[in-house]
Amino acid sequence: MKKIKVVLGKRSYNICIKAGMLSSAGNILKTLNIANTAYIITNKKIKSVYGKRLEASLSKQGILNKFHIVPDSEKAKSYACWCKAIHNLADFDKGKGVCVIALGGGVVGDLAGFVASTYRRGVPFIQIPTTLLAQVDSAIGGKVAIDIECAKNLVGAFYQPKVVISDPLVLRSLPPRQIRNGLAEVIKYGIILDKKFFSYLENNISKILKLNPACLEHLIACCSKLKAEVVSADEEEKTGYRSILNFGHTIGHAIEASVSYGKSVNHGEAVAVGMLCAFDIALMLNMAKERDLIRLEALIKKTGLPTRVKGINIAKVIKATSYDKKIIRGKKRWVLPVAIGHVAVCSKVDDSIIREAIKKRFCG
Ligand SMILES: NC(=O)c1ccc[n+]([C@@H]2O[C@H](COP(=O)([O-])OP(=O)(O)OC[C@H]3O[C@@H](n4cnc5c(N)ncnc54)[C@H](O)[C@@H]3O)[C@@H](O)[C@H]2O)c1
Ligand SMILES: [Zn+2]
Repeated sequence: MKKIKVVLGKRSYNICIKAGMLSSAGNILKTLNIANTAYIITNKKIKSVYGKRLEASLSKQGILNKFHIVPDSEKAKSYACWCKAIHNLADFDKGKGVCVIALGGGVVGDLAGFVASTYRRGVPFIQIPTTLLAQVDSAIGGKVAIDIECAKNLVGAFYQPKVVISDPLVLRSLPPRQIRNGLAEVIKYGIILDKKFFSYLENNISKILKLNPACLEHLIACCSKLKAEVVSADEEEKTGYRSILNFGHTIGHAIEASVSYGKSVNHGEAVAVGMLCAFDIALMLNMAKERDLIRLEALIKKTGLPTRVKGINIAKVIKATSYDKKIIRGKKRWVLPVAIGHVAVCSKVDDSIIREAIKKRFCG
């Protein structure tokens, strides 16, 4: 088993990565002495494939458990779903001392974490991420939230899990487009922090796309370690360092917003184009080298992610970049590449440069 520690003083925790790890969940909880009762938040689809395995593992260790089913979409991150989950949890718990387990992707993880952080002013929380995006990104770092009408993730908290259990085998039932969605974040880690890891991706992308278990274990461990280091250095985004994780996301989020978070472009696809736009901007500012952009573009293509997006209103995208949540005191913060493995944060980039970069990446 690969174990990565997120170092946060008393709130430190491990990310445990191993093929088949889901069946050891009960054992891990028992060893950590977290709780005798578990409230598992998931959706119908995930429960139908992995529910029995988790239930058996918990029951074997004498951990009483109950599943709570939420809708399979971003709708699960709503006030109504949070409220229902809390009421059912209170009914089940009755003071027994319960922990909350998230079994699912980023949607389930964000909602379950917010439920855990608010119920009885916080009960132990366990992440069992089942999408690649959740295993390399959303399950690590303690950001939990629900959406309200005017914005995504506006109501939330920093609430760290007690442990993250990542089983690469659960990714086998994930549709290929969801795998690519997570791979956009994986490529992001290579660009912002780790040149060697970027080369590993270039050399192994076909094995990764075939879900080779050893490659996936290595990839999830590398990304977990990189994210853990960023979170340990700037848990609550106070120094600004954590904002490097936003690489490719300023324009990426703007693309998603301009299509009203519709199905035509998913998050990873928008981030892939957003990373290329950030590179185009850096080239125009003479900050980066063209040969690095060529490598990024080639890797994105091999991954099956887009390098351009279709049918999007450029003016709408530019306007949406002004609403990016990483704006600090009215100033946009652009995370721009300097080289593969190294980025810089800039607040002054002319709108004309941004427009030119966005235009280059749009077709149709
Ligand atoms: N907290 C954070 O730091 C953070 C970071 C990034 C993203 N997020 C949030 O994560 C969410 C997106 O997460 P996501 O990309 O994992 O999407 P998701 O949770 O919607 O999962 C994608 C789809 O895959 C299905 N699925 C999940 N696991 C499966 C499996 N093993 N086999 C088959 N199908 C499976 C889900 O039911 C869903 O239909 C967004 O709400 C976003 O805001 C949070
Ligand atoms: Zn992202």
